Amino acid sequence: MRNALGGVQSVLVLGGSSEIAAATVRRFVADRCNKVILAVREPVSVHGLAEELRAAGAAVEVVAFDAHDTATHAAFIDDLFDRHGDIDCVLSAFGVLGNQDTFDDDAAAAADAVVVNLAGQVSALTATAARMRSQGHGLIVVLSSVAGQRVRRDNAVYGATKAGLDGFARGLGDRLVGSGVKVMVVRPGFVTTRMTAGMDPAPFSTTAERVAEDIVTGIARGAEVVWSPGVLRYLFAVLRALPTPVWRKVSAR
Ligand SMILES: NC(=O)c1ccc[n+]([C@@H]2O[C@H](COP(=O)([O-])OP(=O)(O)OC[C@H]3O[C@@H](n4cnc5c(N)ncnc54)[C@H](OP(=O)(O)O)[C@@H]3O)[C@@H](O)[C@H]2O)c1
Repeated sequence: MRNALGGVQSVLVLGGSSEIAAATVRRFVADRCNKVILAVREPVSVHGLAEELRAAGAAVEVVAFDAHDTATHAAFIDDLFDRHGDIDCVLSAFGVLGNQDTFDDDAAAAADAVVVNLAGQVSALTATAARMRSQGHGLIVVLSSVAGQRVRRDNAVYGATKAGLDGFARGLGDRLVGSGVKVMVVRPGFVTTRMTAGMDPAPFSTTAERVAEDIVTGIARGAEVVWSPGVLRYLFAVLRALPTPVWRKVSAR
């Protein structure tokens, strides 16, 4: 159960090696979260983070998780909820950016990004929602992106997966109204993490720590959608309304 101040006391991170997720979990643990489950492709990749969180006072479990394995996601989530009894928050952070030029010549790679970013999220979060509905409370935090708000030609596949994920997460939140379970969709802009390494920062670029701060603040105020930074809400209200020829010009990098 979340504490008297609404703070998260237990969290399952899907994509626990994500830099944004790591920054967020550090904040949770600093705010007295005492149970962290890191679900990652390669458990060894989060050894340092797990040790750091333990040193900060949290019990940490690391479990193997691959977004591709949609057929096993329900059993995977059931096992965690069965063993831990109560999980306050599931932070879903996994995703791949990919390269649109590569996708143009590799249809299978493009489809694989859709499996990870969309099918994997839908299966893991559907299973999560079912268990949280049964426990009668919970918060699902979903890392969407502004990329899904108006899809750019330079990341058509990635943007499409985020548009799909964002739509699914918002619909899931609507389905869960009255169940005690909430969904918070996070829409960061360009964040300087390994996902964007080597790329020129877009306007209003931010850091994993700033996104973590926005997530923590969003949870505290019961937000259903968090833009990071907040100014992107207004920018995208304008960008979404632009006529196509203008959008093509301004969105070209
Ligand atoms: N960075 C940005 O500019 C930005 C902006 C908006 C939204 N986002 C979103 O924020 C989330 C976190 O991104 P980040 O910036 O923290 O990047 P990151 O550090 O590269 O994190 C991506 C995470 O996805 C995991 N992952 C990739 N494929 C997976 C698979 N098949 N199964 C399970 N996990 C898989 C990675 O695990 P491995 O360590 O095993 O690779 C890693 O934990 C992503 O959903 C991203 O789309 C990022």
